[in-house]
Amino acid sequence: MPTTPDTAELRRLDRDHCWHPLFQHSQLDGDTELTVFDRGEGCTLYDSEGGAYLDAGGGLWNVNVGYGRQEIAQAAFEQMQRLPYYPHSQINEPATRLSAKLAELLPADASHGDLSRVFFSNSGSEANETAFKIARQCQRQRHPGQNRYKIIARYQGYHGFTMGALSATGQVGRRTPYEPLVPGFLHVDPPYCYRCPLKLSYPDCGIACVDEFDEMIRREGPETVAAIVVEPVIGGGGVILPPDEYMPRLREICDRHEVLLIVDEVITGWGRTGKLFACEHWDVVADMVVTAKGITSGYLPMGATIVTDKVFDAFSGSPGDGSELAQVCTYGGHPPCCAAALANIDILMRERLWENAADVGAYLLHGLRGLNSPLIGEIRGIGLMLGVELVDDTGALLDGVRTAKVKAGVKSAGVLVGQMSHAVIGPNSVLCLSPPLILTRAEADQIVDALGTALADQS
Ligand SMILES: Cc1ncc(COP(=O)(O)O)c(C=O)c1O
Repeated sequence: MPTTPDTAELRRLDRDHCWHPLFQHSQLDGDTELTVFDRGEGCTLYDSEGGAYLDAGGGLWNVNVGYGRQEIAQAAFEQMQRLPYYPHSQINEPATRLSAKLAELLPADASHGDLSRVFFSNSGSEANETAFKIARQCQRQRHPGQNRYKIIARYQGYHGFTMGALSATGQVGRRTPYEPLVPGFLHVDPPYCYRCPLKLSYPDCGIACVDEFDEMIRREGPETVAAIVVEPVIGGGGVILPPDEYMPRLREICDRHEVLLIVDEVITGWGRTGKLFACEHWDVVADMVVTAKGITSGYLPMGATIVTDKVFDAFSGSPGDGSELAQVCTYGGHPPCCAAALANIDILMRERLWENAADVGAYLLHGLRGLNSPLIGEIRGIGLMLGVELVDDTGALLDGVRTAKVKAGVKSAGVLVGQMSHAVIGPNSVLCLSPPLILTRAEADQIVDALGTALADQS
């Protein structure tokens, strides 16, 4: 058994050398102390000072099968001993079997094709970068004489931190410091019914927000547009669920203009929303699916871009004619990562964890909606992907200081939650819940109690 780390030493080294994401380090000069996490089991994390927390954030929306799954560790360990690495320019068994597994699990339909061809990378950002490059090249090769390069995404959507994925991201606070971004990325409004950007209300709105895609394509000229990219349910941008008509209509708009539909299932995939993939809620088959996070439940890094046979066909040509995909990813198809993914998917399928996500997710949503606090604006979500929008007494998003106190109060009550960050102008006061999909009803009650206590303390 490893020994417990020296907390004081780690904090000192961390303070001198680590650079944490989305974090103002001067906070460490005040009362803020980062937690040294030491180990995890199931939905519970233990820190180096004896504290235990129910991880209702599920790491970063990704620890779908929970912590402490020895069979994932064992699969990676054995693969590391057998063949730790060779580039995916040749064949290795786990990468091949994982590709076939993804092809088996992702849908097909007659008009769009079969999601059956996989390009591996290391993260959601890279998998999105890959999708955007495939979209541009596919469209240019499909439509000689046109220049279809634009990608349309949504405000508040998140697709990653690298320059292309960030350009698709529509979160102001993450974009502005790094502009100018990559040309050719455009944005429309999200289906954020609680604060409709179009000042309309569902269902009288007629889902005007999805029609913005159609209008933008027509204004830009379809012959300039390669793809649309969306998260089926916006995650980090505030847990925003589209009305049921939204995704089918988006599919129809893409088809009408011969624009590719890229669905970013980085958070929503692998059971999170109560189906294996969120698109199954609306029977929509994308031209490309982007996955990461839950594909390994965070045990090792992995990103994958899965395209239909029809998209792949656009890359067929003769050696030397430049029609092949011109990119390599050193660690794409990394054998131990693929072995870990296979073991993780085995667990997910064997335990049918999407069903537990649907069941306990509905129970948790109901429990949270039973909380009575003036600070709650809206509680929304699907499966085990839930958002709690906090408001002040004018109905505006709760200010950052009070939101931080609520979040800290939840932690003091033994539960960790995530928070929207750098996504909208003003406070980012949506708490995000995405616990492991093994969550029990008793653990769901614990989350409700912790939030209830924290809200009562701040009201
Ligand atoms: C929807 C979505 N897409 C892409 C990404 C980027 O993934 P990564 O952080 O693995 O690069 C994220 C990360 O949170 C995400 O939520």
